[in-house]
Amino acid sequence: MKSYYRLESLMNLYEGYCREFIVDGRQLLLTQSSSKPFLIENKCPHQGFSLVDAHIEDSMITCAAHMVTFSMIDGRVQPGSHIRCGALKVYELVYQGNEVGVFF
Ligand code: FES
Repeated sequence: MKSYYRLESLMNLYEGYCREFIVDGRQLLLTQSSSKPFLIENKCPHQGFSLVDAHIEDSMITCAAHMVTFSMIDGRVQPGSHIRCGALKVYELVYQGNEVGVFF
């Protein structure tokens, strides 16, 4: 059975928000970009670096280690990357009252 994990109050989110969470053994990153919150795995699919220092803009995240850019909407690597790697894991956020969380 899945459990709900509260992450953040909606009033605390703002453009550029970026915070790490460990939930149910998973390393997560909650961000906000283009006025929309995103929840992704805080582990780059290329070599596993944390994305906490990544550049975030227009719903995209660029890993600071080797500059691969991923969509935070579907996790796909964006065209133009010189490195081949898999997609970033993106999780569905759940809104409950005035907060946002996730089911695992
Ligand atoms: S570890 Fe992220 S691009 Fe290499």
